[in-house]
Amino acid sequence: MTDQPAKDQDNANRISLSEAITSRRSVRNFDSAVHITHDELLGMLDEAARAPSSVNMQPWRFLIVESEEARKKLLPLMRLNKRQTRDASDLIVIFGDLECYRKAEEIYGQAAERGILPRLMAKAQLAAIVPAYRKFTREKMTRVVHIDSSLMAMQLMLVAREHGYDTNPIGGFEEDRIAETFGLDPNRYVPVIILAVGKAAKPGHESYRLPARELIWWNDAHGTEPGQGEEKERL
Ligand SMILES: Cc1cc2nc3c(=O)[nH]c(=O)nc-3n(C[C@H](O)[C@H](O)[C@H](O)COP(=O)(O)O)c2cc1C
Repeated sequence: MTDQPAKDQDNANRISLSEAITSRRSVRNFDSAVHITHDELLGMLDEAARAPSSVNMQPWRFLIVESEEARKKLLPLMRLNKRQTRDASDLIVIFGDLECYRKAEEIYGQAAERGILPRLMAKAQLAAIVPAYRKFTREKMTRVVHIDSSLMAMQLMLVAREHGYDTNPIGGFEEDRIAETFGLDPNRYVPVIILAVGKAAKPGHESYRLPARELIWWNDAHGTEPGQGEEKERL
């Protein structure tokens, strides 16, 4: 109760989802003097982790690159993205855990403990999901963790925006070397994307989006390209 006014103030400072979406830009010039506290970073990650994931397995894992030593290790892997690596407050390397089912008992056990899921149902779901996940091929599991972790990454960029920070999603790095460089098992952890997070020193530029109308097949494929058919069904 006592922190209610602070909470109200915090809410008043927050931008709307629509503002977060429309004001987000990929920023390549960060203010190197800005530091994000670990508490705030953890809060943003917890919030972004409300993202959906296949059978709620939450396969995303984060390597936070913050120190000078860690940046030095990352720099040679960053192809054209060296400036962000030097200046962003944090580089968040998002990995997908191909053995994410190891946390299944904790996830479903906690859900039962907290009364979110009936205990018997949690047990039944665990018994069905874990063996199925264990049987997935590496290729299939890689696909699953990429989808789930990408949803989380998008959510994290919007949460960061809401906290007044800017981001740059970065796919241009040495994917085959990053896990080993940081002492992670490359057979288990596959890199998905790196997010540079911080405050813009120079704003990101606007970019064009194709209108949805050009990208749609309404109910069936009319011609090979989307957007060519009539919207007959809706008239
Ligand atoms: C998967 C992915 C990989 C990307 N890789 C890079 C990158 O390596 N370097 C970079 O500067 N921007 C990268 N971007 C940012 C895109 O260039 C940017 O999102 C796009 O041009 C649209 O601009 P906006 O993000 O400002 O709306 C990447 C974006 C995504 C989604």
